[in-house]
Amino acid sequence: MTQRETWTTRLGFILAAVGSAVGLGNIWGFPFQAGRNGGAAFLLVYLVVVLLVGLPAMLIEFVVGRRSKKNPVDAFRELGYGSWTFAGALTAFIAFWILSFYSVVGGWVIRYLVGSLTGAYFGGTEVGNYFLSIAMGPDAVAFHALFMLLSVGIVALGVSDGIERATKLMVPSVVVLLVGIAVWAATLSNAGAGYDFYLSPDLGEVQWGTVIPYAVGQAFFTLSLGMGAMITYASYLGEDDSLPADGGIIAVLNTLVGVLAGLVVFPVLFHYDPNIDLSGAGGSGTAFTTLSSAFAGLGSGGRVLASVFFFVLLIAALSSSISLLEVVTSYVLDNTDYERSSVSVGAGSAVFLFGLPAALGLNWLGLQDASGIDTLTWYNDIAYNLLLPLSVLAVAVFVGWVYGRDALDEIRRGSETGNWFSVTWLWFVRLVVPAGILFTLVLGVQTLLVNAQVLAGPVFEFG
Ligand code: PHE
Repeated sequence: MTQRETWTTRLGFILAAVGSAVGLGNIWGFPFQAGRNGGAAFLLVYLVVVLLVGLPAMLIEFVVGRRSKKNPVDAFRELGYGSWTFAGALTAFIAFWILSFYSVVGGWVIRYLVGSLTGAYFGGTEVGNYFLSIAMGPDAVAFHALFMLLSVGIVALGVSDGIERATKLMVPSVVVLLVGIAVWAATLSNAGAGYDFYLSPDLGEVQWGTVIPYAVGQAFFTLSLGMGAMITYASYLGEDDSLPADGGIIAVLNTLVGVLAGLVVFPVLFHYDPNIDLSGAGGSGTAFTTLSSAFAGLGSGGRVLASVFFFVLLIAALSSSISLLEVVTSYVLDNTDYERSSVSVGAGSAVFLFGLPAALGLNWLGLQDASGIDTLTWYNDIAYNLLLPLSVLAVAVFVGWVYGRDALDEIRRGSETGNWFSVTWLWFVRLVVPAGILFTLVLGVQTLLVNAQVLAGPVFEFG
């Protein structure tokens, strides 16, 4: 077994983790969720959730990773609790699963970048058909492959030479370019209506019963929790820096990018149509079609804007996908003598194959109708609503109730926050985090059942 790699600098770790956190979830998902669920009111709920549930949960993964210096699957045994290996294995499995369709969507993003540069979906009736023409089938497979190839290329180069170097470039680019196009978007007519929709708190719109669990789910996903990514990244920490401080910076930057994305998306959409109805937007395809229509409506300026936007989306997605691929890669590396380059190619190929049904839109498992978008929803639903909360719960119970004292010890290492902080943190891990998760689980299972019924509908009719 070769010497385990480490980050070169503390900043390198922070940027890699921010790169993981900032992804499709922030730029593509977050604004729409906020817009639909009461604007600033959602933002407020979300901020509270990030602070009370998300951040403590991120520190859990940092503790496990830095203490064990192992991939998530082997981390628990390394800490002396082999019977908890299932929790780590679950996170790695979800990483694999989620990456397989994250990459399909990543392929769409490349496709939209190309389409924006060439103007393929600009003009005429093209815009509506463009998504359908690229979302599934051989083309979608090819771009899914290309996206995985790019991810493999970075991971193959290693922790410091690949991931750290790439994210050092990617994360600042995302921020600078987003600020740039947000300023541009501000000059569009009706931008004000967009800000209004996005930011004015509408407490009447907030359905607390669903918004809180939703915010918890979104917080986990956007902070890259429950998939072993943060355990893996923290396992490459060589020195003892303050985990709470690093976690705080990562959570703040991640939230800022989500907010910033909304400041681009909504002025553009409301410029395009001041009365736009966004109640159904934000699903796997609608965000693309709604936004691209708006870009197309802007003419040639829209092409530049769209190109920059999809470029940002692409690098954000890539800097996330590499962290998921690294989970799988690190597991194999820790357990075999293979070279990193071959391992990452192998892991990437396996993920690619697993994502094929979603890219092809096959009537996979017979559980959905013939559209690939539904296959994707199905993939997404199981992972997001069920497996993800369960894995965060398992690791939280372990750290809070089983590993307790040692966890306190680890969180204090390199940190100047007083003991009150670590003790408060532990109680949050023991009580608040599991409570938040239980809420999401109940809602998640409900959603799953409803969708399963909808998806199974046509099958029953034909059968
Ligand atoms: N946080 C990423 C996003 O918001 C998704 C992700 C989850 C990436 C888990 C890595 C690990 O898009």
